[in-house]
Amino acid sequence: MSGFHALVPAAGFGARMGHELPKQYLPIAGKPMIAHALDTLCACAEIATVFVVLSPGDTQFHTYDWSRYGEKLQPLFCGGATRAESVANGLLASELEADDWVLVHDAARPCLTQSLLNKMITELRDDAVGGILAVPVADTLKRADARQRIAATEPREGLWQAQTPQMFRAGLLVEALARCKNVTDEASAVEALGLQPKLVPGDSGNFKVTYPQDVVLAELLLKRELQDSHAASLPLC
Ligand code: C5P
Repeated sequence: MSGFHALVPAAGFGARMGHELPKQYLPIAGKPMIAHALDTLCACAEIATVFVVLSPGDTQFHTYDWSRYGEKLQPLFCGGATRAESVANGLLASELEADDWVLVHDAARPCLTQSLLNKMITELRDDAVGGILAVPVADTLKRADARQRIAATEPREGLWQAQTPQMFRAGLLVEALARCKNVTDEASAVEALGLQPKLVPGDSGNFKVTYPQDVVLAELLLKRELQDSHAASLPLC
């Protein structure tokens, strides 16, 4: 029977963060950023294995204690030059069955919640193609010209911002990424095969930490979540 597995590409450097430490290791709410996503994925009972794709030259991962995750967490030191290459290398190294579901999730999205994860698995487990978490675009969109003047206002109707996890059968994803290497997410490669992944409504809180100010926002959200879960576990008087 096919199972559910997660694959976390974490072989980037996060140049836009302007920090020497790769961004997935920056401290947020008391632990390295990557640990938040790994905590959520490893705590999900449906997910059998969490593969983390690291750069072959990674010197940070083993400086933390990951023993609480046991065998469920599998580091793979086979990251590539791009995110797509890291995912493709990780899939091959994972030796998953073609029918297995794989949820690809950015190490740089620390605010993924258990409820979003469960919602996505429930909505997609019987889907023929798979799909992604995404949110409808809220802002008005401007297209810039070369002088950074507004060239046009783009209609936002029907536009969604892609997030992760992106959930596909491992066999389909290997084939899609082998054919289409210049993509910034897995869904684009699957679309290039002529398929239509499903959009599962996500949450704007599941944003990708890209710029220094994002760290502050992620920290606020994660601390609030910790307080909420602590309050929920207190006995009622
Ligand atoms: O750089 P960006 O924010 O788009 O990266 C998204 C995710 O892809 C991050 O978790 C990053 O570590 C990962 N990545 C990777 N291999 C690369 C580039 C990015 O695994 N060569």
